Amino acid sequence: MNHTEKTTRHRGTAQHKLASALRLQRLLTEISSRFVTSPQTATREIIESAQRSICETLGLDRSTLWLFSDDGLEMALTCYWQRPGSPPLRRNFVTRGNLPWADRQIREAKSFNFSSLADLPPEADRDREIFRLYGTKANVTFPLVTHGRVFGALAFAKLTDEHLWTDEEVASLELISQIFSHVIGKRRAEERADQLRDEIQRSSRAAVLGELAAALAHEINQPLTTILSNAQAARRFITRGSAETHEILAILDDIIRADKRAAGVVRNLREMLGDKPAQRELLCLNELVAESCALFANDPVNEGIDLMFDPGHVPAHIKLASVEIQQLLANLIANASHAMSGTPPDRRRILIQTRADEDMVHLHVRDHGHGIPPEHLDRIFEPFHTTRPDGLGMGLAICRRIAEAHGGTLKAANHQSGGAVFTFSLPFVVRRPEPTGTSRGSLGRE
Ligand SMILES: Nc1ncnc2c1ncn2[C@@H]1O[C@H](COP(=O)(O)OP(=O)(O)OP(=O)(O)O)[C@@H](O)[C@H]1O
Ligand SMILES: [Mg+2]
Repeated sequence: MNHTEKTTRHRGTAQHKLASALRLQRLLTEISSRFVTSPQTATREIIESAQRSICETLGLDRSTLWLFSDDGLEMALTCYWQRPGSPPLRRNFVTRGNLPWADRQIREAKSFNFSSLADLPPEADRDREIFRLYGTKANVTFPLVTHGRVFGALAFAKLTDEHLWTDEEVASLELISQIFSHVIGKRRAEERADQLRDEIQRSSRAAVLGELAAALAHEINQPLTTILSNAQAARRFITRGSAETHEILAILDDIIRADKRAAGVVRNLREMLGDKPAQRELLCLNELVAESCALFANDPVNEGIDLMFDPGHVPAHIKLASVEIQQLLANLIANASHAMSGTPPDRRRILIQTRADEDMVHLHVRDHGHGIPPEHLDRIFEPFHTTRPDGLGMGLAICRRIAEAHGGTLKAANHQSGGAVFTFSLPFVVRRPEPTGTSRGSLGRE
């Protein structure tokens, strides 16, 4: 070979190298950007089309991508591309039993290649059989690693001929496997994060449903008790023959009212479940409280309790969901009654007051019970926190939710002269003062 021939040959090889380096670079850029712009759900399509581009650009016949199962026991064929007419492959084909030697190399984060089946070591006999079965004549395999952990492997093969892998080829394919490691590792992490988020959402939904079921049981219990005790009283009157029609009618009215209350609670919870806010109307707070007090004075839970209402100068009309405010009052009053079980009978008094300052109305419910231990002041609003043997611990959680749904707050404190006081505070916009004591159903003052 003379000098000119040598130079031309050298230049030819250099140009060839440069051209294939450029082709490879373009390919890598294209694959990376395809991964970046594709939606997460299209991962398999993107990988397989990248495998195809790589094989076609580099003159290879097959590329296979293997991923470990979640428990790490198996590594299964997940994505592949091969030239048409090659021996058929099946997805989910696993490595451990079929390619035990290759499986071991990958688990140990070792890459390997062989130019012909004869190059495989003796301990790879089983692997050799399987490679032969699937038409592999030469193969190069890289472990896929993310955060120092092997999660799969990427392999390339020649099926037509045996093939001596050059250092350059191995280096290029290794670079490709690193890109795959990066994008697939990232996607798997994203998928896991999504799954985790779903799980959290599902479990918090279950918790919310549990809370709602508990809330429903809690709220329905009181009207049901009223209905039962009234029905029993009516039965007693009738069997004794001592029933006056007006008494029976009054009892039936109580039953109807309690039933309507229960129906309102169910409707309300249904609206909560459907994510619809409860219906709010412009209402007179003092009237609503007075009516509710009249209603709850007959509840068996409040028997022997003096229920007093002191209406203050508050805006005549505030946007309120009446059933919810009734629920809130029913719970606060029932709690106050429970807290006064040990209070001398002449002091078993609940005082309800409405007051307004510049832009807030306040509804205070004060009792003369045992008060709240200071260390419990925050916890009492948590669902299922209770100190009563037959309590569910849902009442105050429901009350606070109602207060917040109105854009207000519910706070607890101990009164300086004993007992607890709960304050529901609500911002208002319309302000029309009303003279004290004119509200219907006022039960009196302390
Ligand atoms: N007026 C009050 N005085 C003293 N402690 C109170 C008062 N109201 C509530 N508590 C305390 O707060 C706890 C939680 O009240 P909450 O209404 O949420 O549940 P509960 O009354 O125990 O049960 P239920 O779900 O049947 O209402 C009560 O168990 C009690 O310890
Ligand atoms: Mg309660």
